[in-house]
Amino acid sequence: MARSLIDIREFSVEELQELIDTANDIIARPQAYAECCRGKKLATLFFEPSTRTRLSFEAAMYELGGNVIGFSEAQSSSASKGESVADTARVISCYADIIAMRHPKEGAPLVAAMNASIPVINAGDGGHNHPTQTLTDLLTISREKGRLDHLTVGICGDLKFGRTVHSLIAALSRYTGNRFILISPEELKLPSYVKKEILKEKGIPYVQTTDLETVMPELDILYMTRVQRERFFNEEDYLRLKDSFILTPDKLKNAKEELCIMHPLPRVNEISVAIDDDKRACYFKQALYGKYIRMALILKLLKEAGTL
Ligand code: CP
Repeated sequence: MARSLIDIREFSVEELQELIDTANDIIARPQAYAECCRGKKLATLFFEPSTRTRLSFEAAMYELGGNVIGFSEAQSSSASKGESVADTARVISCYADIIAMRHPKEGAPLVAAMNASIPVINAGDGGHNHPTQTLTDLLTISREKGRLDHLTVGICGDLKFGRTVHSLIAALSRYTGNRFILISPEELKLPSYVKKEILKEKGIPYVQTTDLETVMPELDILYMTRVQRERFFNEEDYLRLKDSFILTPDKLKNAKEELCIMHPLPRVNEISVAIDDDKRACYFKQALYGKYIRMALILKLLKEAGTL
């Protein structure tokens, strides 16, 4: 079985740094990487909608000189006829060198990895994990703050269903001195399993609150998230909770000058467009960095598979 990326914890801190270093080198010297994947194919198997993850993976492979095949919705694949994820992964292994898969079911990319003979990258599985968003977030924090440790990280919004949040907490918990302020409505608090397996297990300091403005002055990072409409069983609950937190310029009046405001995007209503020109707004840079770190990841996994 080729090495895949299903959960961010599968990479050591040293490997995360290696990916960040490679991404920074790609940003500095893109031409040096332009032919690295000549003749190689990435398959993007997206059973759920995506703009950033799918298109940044595709842009990443093209900028490495490679090619892309795939589909962007389950309906246009044979999953609509009942084909299993396991069979799909076996078949795509005959056509491509590496897979990026997004799926609404938690664990589907793991099943794909267990049945594929090529590396599989989890591009988001249900409300579970989104490790390549976390790689994007780590590159952004590293470039904006100059470090990944000794940070007070506020994470705000839908901490229950927000898969980017679960992977980010897993990653940042591995660096010394980080603490988390978890800001959400009662109904959308961080799942117990994440608190138990990561924060409590590692003794990471955290507090939970429903009040963003009170904690604002403490934050080095503010990671806003969307309320995940597609994960709700009940539309009424979504409508009641969707605008729980809306970041507007007045809410930043007590924030640090060096605050880094992040959001995995898509944004619905959580950050006012009036903040987009604030020098602390990093979310569009974050989307750009996603392409470079995915280039680094493709290179690493193809090298480890012996394909490059
Ligand atoms: N951040 C993120 O996963 O965006 P997409 O859903 O557009 O891929």
